Amino acid sequence: MLNKLCLRDGIGLVNIVRKPAQAALLKSMGAKHVCDTSAPTFLQDLTEALVQTGATIAFDATGGGKLAGQILGCMEAALSRSATTEYSRYGSTTHKQVYIYGGLDTGPTEFARNFGFSWGMGGWLVFQFLERIGAEAAQAMRQRVAAELKTTFASHYTQEVSLAEALQPGAIAAYGQRTTGAKYLINPNKAGSAWSAAYDAPANTSLHCDSMAA
Ligand SMILES: NC(=O)c1ccc[n+]([C@@H]2O[C@H](COP(=O)([O-])OP(=O)(O)OC[C@H]3O[C@@H](n4cnc5c(N)ncnc54)[C@H](OP(=O)(O)O)[C@@H]3O)[C@@H](O)[C@H]2O)c1
Repeated sequence: MLNKLCLRDGIGLVNIVRKPAQAALLKSMGAKHVCDTSAPTFLQDLTEALVQTGATIAFDATGGGKLAGQILGCMEAALSRSATTEYSRYGSTTHKQVYIYGGLDTGPTEFARNFGFSWGMGGWLVFQFLERIGAEAAQAMRQRVAAELKTTFASHYTQEVSLAEALQPGAIAAYGQRTTGAKYLINPNKAGSAWSAAYDAPANTSLHCDSMAA
């Protein structure tokens, strides 16, 4: 989705995936820069892509592990490589930022500070962001999503489950993998849902559970 959006808006995007199959898929969808964390050359590939795009802002969906720190480290390496000013032991003066917006990796966030002193790591949540930008800007974004719901923002679900079905061990084992192409849509109105039976929810109410997605 992000790849489609950035291609459409002419934004230089560096995609980071963890499997060659995902890299191939993104490239087949027109992605210019795709780096695979499982490749032995991952850090060099990422640095090269950052030299080419000049990107200094990243969004990390994994949250845990070393990725956020690696991104900042590669941004610093890319900036040093393109530097025209005198070397400074304090690193580049360009502010580099990583926003952690997901928790696909539930482990602790780990980083070695090999990226100088101009950097930031923070959290990002869409609901808080929409509140911060104000009603008018948020409405403009909603309108864009509505207009491109079947193109740029198209998504699909592998299965639609009731709340009761979502608690079955087989379903948990499937969506718990958080893997590509295995999004589950939780529909509280679906027959068999305890919530639906107890509260008689209005028709068409549904909950898209992102944290189960992949
Ligand atoms: N902050 C916010 O406002 C916000 C908004 C929406 C979503 N989120 C969160 O963002 C995260 C991603 O959601 P999404 O809907 O964007 O997912 P998605 O499009 O379905 O993508 C998840 C991808 O991440 C890969 N993946 C899964 N576990 C991984 C891990 N431990 N390390 C590296 N890669 C992993 C999967 O690839 P493989 O094929 O390699 O398994 C899959 O392609 C979730 O944690 C979600 O809750 C946050």
